[in-house]
Amino acid sequence: MKTDADRIRQVGSKFQVHGRFLRAFPIGRGHINDTFAADYDYGGRTVRFVHQTINHHVFPNPVAVMENIDRVTRHKRALLAEREDTEAGRKSLTVIPKLDGKLYYQDGDGVYWRTYIFIDRATTFDTIETLEQAETVAGAYGRFQNLLVDLPGKRLHETIPDFHHARKRFDRLMKVVEDDPMNRAASVRDAIQFVQDREDVVDVLLDLISKGELPDRITHNDTKLNNVMIDDATGEAICVVDLDTVMPGSVLYDFGDMVRTATSPALEDERDLSKVKMQLPMFEALVKGYWEAAKDFLTPVERDHLAFSGKLLCLMIGMRFLTDHIEGDVYFKTHREDHNLDRARNQFKLVSSIEEQADRMDSAVRDLCV
Ligand SMILES: Nc1ncnc2c1ncn2[C@@H]1O[C@H](COP(=O)(O)OP(=O)(O)O)[C@@H](O)[C@H]1O
Ligand SMILES: [Mg+2]
Repeated sequence: MKTDADRIRQVGSKFQVHGRFLRAFPIGRGHINDTFAADYDYGGRTVRFVHQTINHHVFPNPVAVMENIDRVTRHKRALLAEREDTEAGRKSLTVIPKLDGKLYYQDGDGVYWRTYIFIDRATTFDTIETLEQAETVAGAYGRFQNLLVDLPGKRLHETIPDFHHARKRFDRLMKVVEDDPMNRAASVRDAIQFVQDREDVVDVLLDLISKGELPDRITHNDTKLNNVMIDDATGEAICVVDLDTVMPGSVLYDFGDMVRTATSPALEDERDLSKVKMQLPMFEALVKGYWEAAKDFLTPVERDHLAFSGKLLCLMIGMRFLTDHIEGDVYFKTHREDHNLDRARNQFKLVSSIEEQADRMDSAVRDLCV
């Protein structure tokens, strides 16, 4: 068996990394990719790079993924350099191409690899615990979107088509309920009814998009805390990573997913639903951080749907968990019986909690976004 170090040394040798390989070790605890840091000796100076696999089960077209990432990171760095930001190199990922100029390397096992410059003196954290963290993270994603509003050239690749197409997610759930391959639908009637009672929610943003009232922008689509590198010295967000899902879409999908993942104190699969709730102060912190970074480009329609976007994202992910439960747990990994059902109920509880507080959330947006 090849050791990690041998494997990484071999991968590294394919890229435009010209130092002498010293060592490699795994970093991050991502669920999607395997990530390694590797040190190289550049004539007495140690330079660190990141070698990372691209999960081609989740991303059927790794080439398109890398084209998106390369365009986005180049544009960001150019804008930051234009502003004479001395930290431009740390504020964006930098793709290191293969020796032949390709953006990725496919090894003998068919695994796709890419290489980035390592962002040093920065750390990622797993769970949002404080209001300050929520504000910082929302600001980081707002700035990320802001730097990309004017990306020139053709539309980015939609690497996961219809990722946030709530209507298609709804229709798919109804189809699975009808087929009911595991005979599970009857036992989850209440959850299905919960979704059906909210059918109108799924079309709200799609209608605005088709009427041209909601701009098509560039969004991150995985706006978790552990995709934001926090500067060790200043405690500020320095760089957003994990750009696999960067795609065209509405910025509300990013904001909504922050509301979904950051405002509840409970884990996504918590069964004690009394612990699952949208905490208004967390929401306000997200709005504050996001507005500060995004106010230059956000339209009134986008601003007016910030609170709504949280409800939509919780409903949408809840529908996906419920679909998977009824279908027999084919997509999301499960670690216990009814795991996907627990996750779905958890999301639906958040939907209810947001509905109960919708007026207060909207008035927080009106107060804070001025
Ligand atoms: N260029 C980089 N410099 C330093 N650390 C990185 C870099 N890229 C990723 N990481 C670290 O590795 C972790 C996992 O990488 P990520 O791209 O988020 O993969 P996953 O899709 O598995 O979450 C990140 O949370 C971050 O801590
Ligand atoms: Mg990640």
